[in-house]
Amino acid sequence: MNIHDSEKIAGMLKNLGYEETEDKSNADIIVFNTCCIRESAELKIMAKIGDIKALKKANKNLIVVVCGCMTQQKGMPENLKKKFPFINIIIGTHNLEELQNYIEKYNKTHKSFNEIWEAEKQIVENNAVYRTSNYNAWVNIMYGCNNFCTYCIVPYVRGRERSRKVEDIKKEVEELVKSNKYKTITLLGQNVNSYGNDFKDGKTNFVYLLNELCKIEGDFRLKFMTSHPKDFSLELIDFIASNPKMSKSIHLPVQSGSNSILKIMNRRYTVEHYKNLIDQIKLKIPNASITTDIIVGFPGETDEDFEGTCDLLKYCNYSGVFGFVYSKRKGTPAEKFENQIPINIKRQRITKLFEIQHKIVKELSDRLVGQTIEVLVEAKINNFYIAKTDGGKTIKIKEENNKEINLGNYYIVKINKALTNELIGEII
Ligand code: 5AD
Ligand code: SF4
Repeated sequence: MNIHDSEKIAGMLKNLGYEETEDKSNADIIVFNTCCIRESAELKIMAKIGDIKALKKANKNLIVVVCGCMTQQKGMPENLKKKFPFINIIIGTHNLEELQNYIEKYNKTHKSFNEIWEAEKQIVENNAVYRTSNYNAWVNIMYGCNNFCTYCIVPYVRGRERSRKVEDIKKEVEELVKSNKYKTITLLGQNVNSYGNDFKDGKTNFVYLLNELCKIEGDFRLKFMTSHPKDFSLELIDFIASNPKMSKSIHLPVQSGSNSILKIMNRRYTVEHYKNLIDQIKLKIPNASITTDIIVGFPGETDEDFEGTCDLLKYCNYSGVFGFVYSKRKGTPAEKFENQIPINIKRQRITKLFEIQHKIVKELSDRLVGQTIEVLVEAKINNFYIAKTDGGKTIKIKEENNKEINLGNYYIVKINKALTNELIGEII
């Protein structure tokens, strides 16, 4: 979500005539697109803003902008201004699309200002986007979140769910496919499964949208992130299974493998419900690659609760796990929960989690040896092509004189070897 927001920021800067520079001491403007999902992200960005002080001293004309979800927290713009008086513009998540106007205003007046909107507004269409990820294009289908998981700050800083219209999304995807630059379109939303609920028309939902998008002609795959297990329907599983344009890689965050923790996280599903979903996905989509998000060290998490998470990892055989140490977020219910877990226990648990997952990934890779698999060839480094499977695994393919390989095309590859972090294959 943040990467795509940065692409929108870059689009607006390009509109104003700015060009990218690799060297920040050369910059006329520096925009920090912040994230506050965990404390570590905030600390990192604070340090980076602090680093700019010397640049600003050397170049009085440098414009410094801070935006993104960190600024949307109560009291944060004032804190930032106190800590870093050299910041020129602070804006929030609800007025990102106004940034171009704000920079123009600043260029006229040279007066620093904060502008944070309290509430979400109508969705702005036809934004300038400067796309940076090769072969993959991000497309927002909805904004905000209504779920209020007790650890999470997102609903407070990104507002309530609002969906883009089917025709607006379709137009954007059609143009991206027509451009022939993108092979994967990744639909973005905090909980894509509740797409369309706000229309209340009894017809528009996530599967309806997918069906409309899959009708677009062209050689592309549709992915989406993120979905919520409480809303992941059997209809959706069937749709992914039956439609060749649907990527078989599914990110389904579980957060914990303990029912009591899921309950106090307000996730509104049980481990049994989640396992049943995984069973259905594996049954209907045998080549599915499933990934998840896990939080360890949520307040009150016992050794037994954590063991439940480890068991779930083994049960699901994930091809990837994004594991996080629980981070207290101001204003969320979990901030006030008793039994906060000491950092050393959190660290031990995350290390164990990654050890288990590492073994699972190695086993899954070993199992691929000798198999053939479709890949997208994305780059060439020296005499190796770098390709990606639908599930995001990297395959290295040695150049051969008698085989012409074009970047951006799909090929069938036989996997010959599984190393720790990569697979070696040959085009057949
Ligand atoms: N602490 C740690 N991880 C968090 N996430 C969300 N909020 C927190 C928090 N307070 C994780 C969840 C979510 C992912 C995007 O970030 O696992 O799925
Ligand atoms: Fe946060 Fe939960 Fe919403 Fe995801 S579903 S953004 S974890 S509140």
